[in-house]
Amino acid sequence: MKLKVITSNPGKVAEYRRSFSDLGIEMEHLRLPYDEVQTSDLEEVVDKGMDEIVAKGVRNFIVDDSGLFVDALKGFPGVWSAYAQKTIGNKGVLKLMEGVKDRGAEFRCCIGCDIEGQRIIVTGVCKGSITKAESGSEGFGFDPIFTHDGKRTFAEIPIEEKNEVSHRGNAVKLLIEELKKKGLVG
Ligand code: IMP
Repeated sequence: MKLKVITSNPGKVAEYRRSFSDLGIEMEHLRLPYDEVQTSDLEEVVDKGMDEIVAKGVRNFIVDDSGLFVDALKGFPGVWSAYAQKTIGNKGVLKLMEGVKDRGAEFRCCIGCDIEGQRIIVTGVCKGSITKAESGSEGFGFDPIFTHDGKRTFAEIPIEEKNEVSHRGNAVKLLIEELKKKGLVG
């Protein structure tokens, strides 16, 4: 079976390829822009995006809307994570967190999967904290400033380890459970 991963982010594609290889599902990268509705709800962004993609005649695909939600910043950057990453970047987030004691944060990843005419939407979470400095060169986005274990950032661990604990890895586990329940994978 083949699923398209619709994203402009090659880092996400690498993580999906790794997660789905054991199930024998091939992931094909497709860059297809779609509107991201302005809402504070990742699932709504995904659901509306999927309507638009299906209306364009594309089927059997995955879309993923993710974000970093920082407790002390009342959930910012959250659904505005892509914009924050492009504008203030990791250094900007660290600056906002200067002198802040509560460094708790979580990554959330909502995956929408269109498969054999069915739609499955799941959300995975990974709790952790914001480091005081950037560290590591693996991964992408906010990985150098997020740690799940208080020791290493996501940019300091291999992709396999990130997939075991990350928001995306957790969402993939939920998705695979749903696919199995529906008999869509073995
Ligand atoms: P989007 O889901 O592509 O809109 O991503 C939102 C923003 O969050 C982008 O700037 C990503 O780089 C960032 N992001 C999403 N997932 C991750 C991750 O696993 N690690 C680090 N940054 C992420």
